[in-house]
Amino acid sequence: MENKITTGTAIGKIILIGEHAVVYGQPALAIPFPETRIKTIISRKRGPVMLDCFFYKGLLLNAPERLLGLTTIIKEIVNGFDKELKDFSIRIESSIPPERGMGSSAAVAVATVRALYDFFDQPLTDQDLFKWSNISEKIVHGNPSGIDTAIIIGETPLYYIKGKPFVPFPFKLDAFLIVADTGELGQTQAAVASVEKLMDTDPEKGEDIIKQLGFLTKNAKVSIESNDGEKLGETMSKAHSLLDKLGVSNEILNLLVSVAVENGALGAKLTGGGRGGCMIALAATQQEAISISNKLLCNGAKNTWIYNMGVDLL
Ligand code: PMV
Repeated sequence: MENKITTGTAIGKIILIGEHAVVYGQPALAIPFPETRIKTIISRKRGPVMLDCFFYKGLLLNAPERLLGLTTIIKEIVNGFDKELKDFSIRIESSIPPERGMGSSAAVAVATVRALYDFFDQPLTDQDLFKWSNISEKIVHGNPSGIDTAIIIGETPLYYIKGKPFVPFPFKLDAFLIVADTGELGQTQAAVASVEKLMDTDPEKGEDIIKQLGFLTKNAKVSIESNDGEKLGETMSKAHSLLDKLGVSNEILNLLVSVAVENGALGAKLTGGGRGGCMIALAATQQEAISISNKLLCNGAKNTWIYNMGVDLL
């Protein structure tokens, strides 16, 4: 049996503003986050397919329910190539903390599809990647807007509206973004479902919040275009209050947002699905960013990253 190894990689993402509202047709702004990455390695190995990843190590066919998105697309892809599901193993290495609103589920799907197509010597188009990642995301989230997949495949900042052509939004903002991990698993599926419930039970309230979030995203775009970090920060904090009202924040996210703002951040908010996961804060200078990051770590954040928005997004 010929020895063969292929790899696929994918980066993480950060939603600057517009999460949840994007599911309902409002715009969202998101950026690639290459500080965190997924790498999938597929190697030829006789026998049933084995999977080795953060949540599970063992036979692919016995993988737990939480990996159903990934295992479903692996089976369907191999089936579509008219190959048998055997004689290879899959290892997934990740520096994207799982279930923290950094797009790890879409990144795992994208990296794995890339490695799998390469392993079976099949040409892969971006359309194929979108299709498979979105199938997996649908199983994971229920009702994904597609923003995670779009950023992770495109690796460029986007002003994203569900169902519309992607508008790349490369920008240069003289500010620093601090990303802080609460260490708590985010609950994207539950948060998305709870917003859906609110839209059913109290449509007036739900639609009002979603509309306001959309308005803030449009404002954020203008602030970025005019290199106005202060305005962007204010808008981010307003978005956080609305997300809290929407019921997708939690105690630790609210605490870290307050700590950031009390310690000089221009603004702060949760990022991604919420109810755990990560928050972001904007700082005018690198020194302030370092100081805010230290305060966040002292107040319960498990990890932080600092992102120079003046250079890293070009
Ligand atoms: O938690 P994440 O990284 O999967 O981000 C979810 C973003 C939402 O807007 C809440 C859902 C979506 O599909 O857009």
